[in-house]
Amino acid sequence: MAIKIVVFDAYGTLFDVYSISALAEQLYPGQGAALSVLWRDKQIDYTRLISLSDPSEQGSRHYQSFWDITRAALRYALARLGLVHTGANEDALMAQYAKLTAFSENLGVLQSLRHHGVATAILSNGSPEMLASAVHSAGMDDWLDAVLSVDRVRQFKTTPSSYQMVQDHFGVAPADVLFVSSNAWDALGATWFGFTTLWVNRQGLPPETIGPAPHHTGCDLSEVLKVLSLD
Ligand code: LAC
Repeated sequence: MAIKIVVFDAYGTLFDVYSISALAEQLYPGQGAALSVLWRDKQIDYTRLISLSDPSEQGSRHYQSFWDITRAALRYALARLGLVHTGANEDALMAQYAKLTAFSENLGVLQSLRHHGVATAILSNGSPEMLASAVHSAGMDDWLDAVLSVDRVRQFKTTPSSYQMVQDHFGVAPADVLFVSSNAWDALGATWFGFTTLWVNRQGLPPETIGPAPHHTGCDLSEVLKVLSLD
């Protein structure tokens, strides 16, 4: 295998989007888990709606930053669950979203890759500011060669123009990229694009039932080191 670079999805893969449920539970007792799941689903739903409704390579006319989409999805999820929206609660949940907890093994994996001379990057739907904030609060600044936000192409994953950003930045063939995501749909989109893929199935979910299987599957990020025979 000629893997030259490992590219990570951010939300769900490096950062735990469901870690927000503790604060959500505090603000809306009994509804924290439901709110965090619906919030995430609606957030991803909106990215697809925007990209599908104008898939042009010049960027979608309907593009909004992932930060704005995240806020809009929160408002929807609250309304859908019949929960009271207040500006203070929204601000508190959004502030937490900017500093999501990173999964515990991640930093060590990034450090190990870099020590072995493997380049590392993030490719995320996240807007540049929210990615910078999450990366910084997880102490990952020094362990990533690039943080690529789809904000530059104004299309969300799984559009080809979003995945193409990796090639444009690093000049490597897709098959020489190990793309790592805990989102099965993202792993499938990346496999279709031509990347070598690892699905980190953190939640023990069933695999997608369409398309090719990811090239590799594991249950946490340390699987990356096994795939590259660095463990
Ligand atoms: C990301 C989301 C989709 O980081 O998880 O791109």
